[in-house]
Amino acid sequence: MPGVDRLSVVGFAFFIATGCRVGDPVGRTLITADEIQARVLELAEAISHDYAGRDLLLICVLKGAAIFWADLCRAIRVPCQSDFVAMESYGDASAPLEEPRFTKAADVTLANRDILIVEDIIDTGHTSACLRGLLRAQSPRSLALCALLDKAERRQVNSPIEYCGFVIPNAFVVGYGLDFAQQYRHLPFIAVLETQPEH
Ligand code: IMP
Repeated sequence: MPGVDRLSVVGFAFFIATGCRVGDPVGRTLITADEIQARVLELAEAISHDYAGRDLLLICVLKGAAIFWADLCRAIRVPCQSDFVAMESYGDASAPLEEPRFTKAADVTLANRDILIVEDIIDTGHTSACLRGLLRAQSPRSLALCALLDKAERRQVNSPIEYCGFVIPNAFVVGYGLDFAQQYRHLPFIAVLETQPEH
């Protein structure tokens, strides 16, 4: 190709293949896009089986679970509705708040519904334990949790995960909705951040 050196072509091919910019601190891929998609189908299959004939309402926890929710709900084969909540888990600090709070509550009535919370990752467990408490107070018929990732060894609060995508080691991960400083949510795979933030 006249005017274009070979390194540029290789670099551009890498950019296209990975979705990364040169200099991004995204490290090794932990879970590939294909592995995620296969697991999402399995989770949707189990949920479709368990919620047949029920009144399923998916509660997607913004922002991290948005991409997971979008793939999951499209693979669920039983009638379901969706709503969205947002939680403040960390405030301005790097340590989780003892009592995370809603920055956006659900719009629909939760009473007597079969609620399935859709979360990106369960880390210490504070956020999901608190969210369960807040939602349970609205008297749903049933309440369960589906999380894409479980960082089990970091758990501080017991928080059951009825539908779990992957148990992962203790590392800060990004991609498929998960961010670091609002970056990397768009990556179709889960990667370990090269420089691990304190968390
Ligand atoms: P918790 O410690 O279980 O309360 O997790 C709170 C929130 O921290 C999660 O919903 C994520 O938004 C965020 N989080 C925890 N670990 C990671 C990670 O490895 N990558 C990106 N976000 C994370």
